[in-house]
This record gives sequence, C-alpha cells and structure tokens, in this order.
Amino acid sequence: MKKLLALLMTVVLATTMFTACGSSKSGDDGDKTLIMGTNAEFPPYEYRENNEVIGIDAEIGKAIADKLGMDFKIEDMAFDSIIPAVTSGKADVGLAGMTASEDRKVSVDFSDTYVEAGQVIIVKKGSDIKDASGLAGKTVGVQLGTTGDLYVSDPKNVENVTVQQFPKGADAVEALKTDKIDAVVIDNQPAKKFVENNSDIEILATPLTQESYAIAVAKDNKQLLDAVNKALAELKESGELDSILNKYLANDESAETTTSAQ
Ligand code: ARG
Repeated sequence: MKKLLALLMTVVLATTMFTACGSSKSGDDGDKTLIMGTNAEFPPYEYRENNEVIGIDAEIGKAIADKLGMDFKIEDMAFDSIIPAVTSGKADVGLAGMTASEDRKVSVDFSDTYVEAGQVIIVKKGSDIKDASGLAGKTVGVQLGTTGDLYVSDPKNVENVTVQQFPKGADAVEALKTDKIDAVVIDNQPAKKFVENNSDIEILATPLTQESYAIAVAKDNKQLLDAVNKALAELKESGELDSILNKYLANDESAETTTSAQ
C-alpha cells in the first residue's frame, strides 16, 4: 500500500512538473511543444511569407524552444487575443513585438527586454502634421489594442483626435495612402517596412514613446518565465539575438535603437 502511494505520488509529481511549462501539448514520445501566440501583421517581427510565419520573433521563439528542448509551434491570432491566449494557456508565450506595458503587467508577466522601440507617426509627404501636436483635430489610424492605439486615444497625449482602429497596421497605412485618414501611429520598425515601398508617405523624425518589447508568460508560470529569461540571456550573450536582429534590420540606421549591443 505504501509502495503504491509512493508510486502514485511520483506519477502526480512527474505530471505536475511535466505540465508546469505551460499548456504544452505533449506528443506520444513525451516531447513538449512551446506554443507562441503572435499576430503576423507586424514586419519585421512577424509576418507571412509563403503562408509561413517568419520574422524576428518567430526566430527568437524557435531559438528559445530549442534551448528548452521543446518543439515549437506558432499560433497566429488577432493582436488583442494574444494576452487572453497566454492567460488561458492556449499559448505558452506571447511573442509579438509586444510592449511590456504597466496595463498588461496586471494580466501577464513579462520576460526581460529584448528590443527597445517606440511609436512613430506616418504621414503623406507634404502633410501639415509635423509632430505629435499636429495630430490634434485629425483622424489617426492605429492597430487595434496596440500601445499606439492607447497613446493616441489618451486625451493627455493628443487633443480632439478621431482614432480609427484597424485590425492590421497595413490596413491603416492603406487608408492613409488613399486619404481616408491623416496619419498612422505605429511602432518604428514596422513603420519603416510599411513606408519602404511607398514613396508617397514618410515617417516623422521624433518618436512619440519609448517602449520595451518583452515576452509575455502566464502569471502562474514562474518556471517558464525563468527558463525564457535564461534562454534570452544566453541568446544575448552568444550574439545569436544580434544576428537575428541584424538579419531583419540590415541596412537600417535605427537598428541601433535595439538593445542588441549590451
Ligand atoms: N508594440 C505594440 C504593442 O505592444 C504593437 C505590437 C503589435 N504587434 C503585432 N504583432 N501586431 O502594443
């Protein structure tokens, strides 16, 4: 009877430890899968090419899974579904150029920072909007639920503005190009990508915010958070994080705004 109890305890313990790393579905061979929740509408961090999600975050996620000895899977979803996915265990990590904001820290934990970024304004060339104050009274496009959305929607930052929320940043840029809105507020690196092939729009020089991207993990999963931080530190240390960033941010002056060189 004692032996049976001991055996039972071992099984229970093993199962707890096994599932402790998250919702990770386990394969027959006992392999665990790290599920990354993201929104692949955010080049160069995550976007689709040949129906595959690629980009900086996809590579960081894969590198972390490798270090944890886990399989890796990306779940592409609406940006504002990522935190709910992490808290409900549908995803183990939220990796989406996500700003570690105070608001979000109420629902999830964040890893250490892996990139510094900020919101910028995109306008049509020749626009009378020259800086943040110029947004007053205008119609501004943002991606729904992002820090850009929050910034513009806060009357402390911009007065009397009409905010138009788009499911994708690219849709906001399209609306700007067709004069349906006056400006787009979005993260600096995606802004570069969106403007790259559009000679009629430009990014205003002064960023609106200073933000840190980090990886979201469920609050009750300290074990995974520690493992992610350890993997991230190793990726910084070995230069692997730098190579991933440089691969996607090559020929880009603002690549130096990343935390890469520490
Ligand atoms: N950094 C911004 C935020 O955290 C935008 C992130 C958007 N990411 C995405 N994959 N669409 O709100």
